[in-house]
Amino acid sequence: MGVPAQGERRRILITAGPTHEPIDAVRFIGNRSSGKLGVSLAAEAAARGHQTTLLLGPTPPQAVDTRVRVRGFRTTADLDSLLREEAPETDVLIMAAAVADYRPIPPQGFDPRAGKLRRQSQRLTLELEPTPDLLAGCVQRRTPGQLIVGFALEPRAELMTSAKAKLERKGVDAIVANALETMESPTIEATLVWRDGAAQSTDGAVKKEAFAGWLLDRILNKGGA
Ligand code: CTP
Repeated sequence: MGVPAQGERRRILITAGPTHEPIDAVRFIGNRSSGKLGVSLAAEAAARGHQTTLLLGPTPPQAVDTRVRVRGFRTTADLDSLLREEAPETDVLIMAAAVADYRPIPPQGFDPRAGKLRRQSQRLTLELEPTPDLLAGCVQRRTPGQLIVGFALEPRAELMTSAKAKLERKGVDAIVANALETMESPTIEATLVWRDGAAQSTDGAVKKEAFAGWLLDRILNKGGA
């Protein structure tokens, strides 16, 4: 695995992990994403000599390759700001983060960063608002030649139909379709689907570290990014 020749060294931006949307200063709505896949992708990209940045959500501590530049985020809004800063300077964006679709609307006059919701005897209703689709935003702001790849985590029965619909809706160049079982698992079984309908599948379930190489081989050999 040599260092890429001059001109072949790409700027690669990878997002990974969950978002945490605060309910109050001590509670949040999150998801079970481990960030492992994105961390493996970043390590593999850096090992191949690419200039790699990882935007990493709140995951349990894990070792990240020292050649990877890491910036942390907590909320969807944090990740949105980082993407607005980083994406314009990127050739390839791989959006593996499990971004929240909804976030709590704080009760009137309540600061969720400072206050704590108190126990009451009545029911408590949390009101949620939709978050912006960050990937679709990146597609709208894309720079010439930039390659954008999304992920679709779906129930197995609807995997390919939902993934193809998502690829169209978000306007990405390709989408990695994988079943819900991927979450928290050390392995992944996936299909990479391109806009032109071309699709490539892994040979059954593979370790996430090995999948990183598999995916980068296919993404970096495609398009002139
Ligand atoms: N994504 C995003 N911003 C969001 C939600 C998702 O950028 N607010 C990105 C994810 O990082 C992923 C892709 O969009 O690359 C698909 O995410 P997914 O949660 O599977 O799709 P949704 O847009 O949430 O659609 P649905 O709720 O129908 O599954």
